[in-house]
Amino acid sequence: MAYRNVTRCICHSRSFEEIKEYAKEQGISSVEKLQERKYCSSGCGLCSPYVEMVLETGETEFTPGAYYRKKKTS
Ligand code: FES
Repeated sequence: MAYRNVTRCICHSRSFEEIKEYAKEQGISSVEKLQERKYCSSGCGLCSPYVEMVLETGETEFTPGAYYRKKKTS
């Protein structure tokens, strides 16, 4: 079965690329700050762990479940 990579906050219709650029421009380094501004991750919240990884690594595309696999190994 083929899975689509995780590349966006669906609830806010924003790509991780857009979120990364916005965070950089605004000097934001936490998901909580983005949520406070209702920029992303304040709907269902399922994208939050991935946005956290965007902020940590600068990557903008992840395999489904990448966050949980990372937590197991770290
Ligand atoms: S997908 Fe980002 S809040 Fe729902």
